[in-house]
Amino acid sequence: MGGDPRHVGIIMDGNGRWAEDRGLPRIEGHRRGADSVRDIVRYARERELAALTLYAFSEQNWARPVDEVAALMDLLRDYLTSERAEIMDHDIRLVSVGAIDRLPQTVREPLDALVRDSAENRHLTLCLALSYGGQESLVEAARCLGSEIEAGRLRAEQIDLPRLAAALQTGRLGLPPLDLVVRTSGEQRLSNFLLWESAYAELYFTDVPWPAFRREHFALALDDYAQRQRRYGLTGAQVGGIE
Ligand code: IPE
Ligand code: IPE
Ligand code: MG
Repeated sequence: MGGDPRHVGIIMDGNGRWAEDRGLPRIEGHRRGADSVRDIVRYARERELAALTLYAFSEQNWARPVDEVAALMDLLRDYLTSERAEIMDHDIRLVSVGAIDRLPQTVREPLDALVRDSAENRHLTLCLALSYGGQESLVEAARCLGSEIEAGRLRAEQIDLPRLAAALQTGRLGLPPLDLVVRTSGEQRLSNFLLWESAYAELYFTDVPWPAFRREHFALALDDYAQRQRRYGLTGAQVGGIE
């Protein structure tokens, strides 16, 4: 069985319900969720994971009420500003996937600066999925390959798995495939998270809402992962034999 995963993705869900259950406005749940992000990133660094992708805002989340979207953008800006020292001091490389050009300038500026300044950091790669959709990212990759064909630099029959993987934002960033996807707050779906990249990921669902999710919960998810047998289509005996 495996040890720790290299790349974990987390669908940070349940902020709104956590707040509503306490009679608080939904944004309080998002605010508290930022504390969970801090703790989980720090723990991922301590466990020496290679990469952690956090699903922070989906392409579909733009359709939420405007004041909730605006409050989320403010929190994102605050996170990028307040965590700058933590990220640099801990040698964390920050990257992002998603339609970043849709984000307001107030978010893009600190994001671009931190991505640039942390580019040479060598420990954990922290990837924020912002304005992100898995299907949208596949469309974008298809367009990239299509324009290569139009320009005469590529033939259709040259498109294979590695080439498509490399055309995705995650491929361009050198992120490995996902080993483990964690979703908090009870829902058991991917909600357009890294679809291609999670092809053989192990899935872990917990009822704990994101604002309450801390390192001890993450440690349980990692323990669970370590017990799984990843077979990639082979038989258990085949996999057992080559371990
Ligand atoms: C996750 O919490 C944060 C985002 C999607 C931005 P939700 O806001 O989806 O919380 P619930 O699922 O409504 O409780
Ligand atoms: C997925 O959560 C997106 C993020 C966690 C950023 P949602 O709350 O948007 O997903 P659905 O609507 O329950 O599928
Ligand atoms: Mg939700």
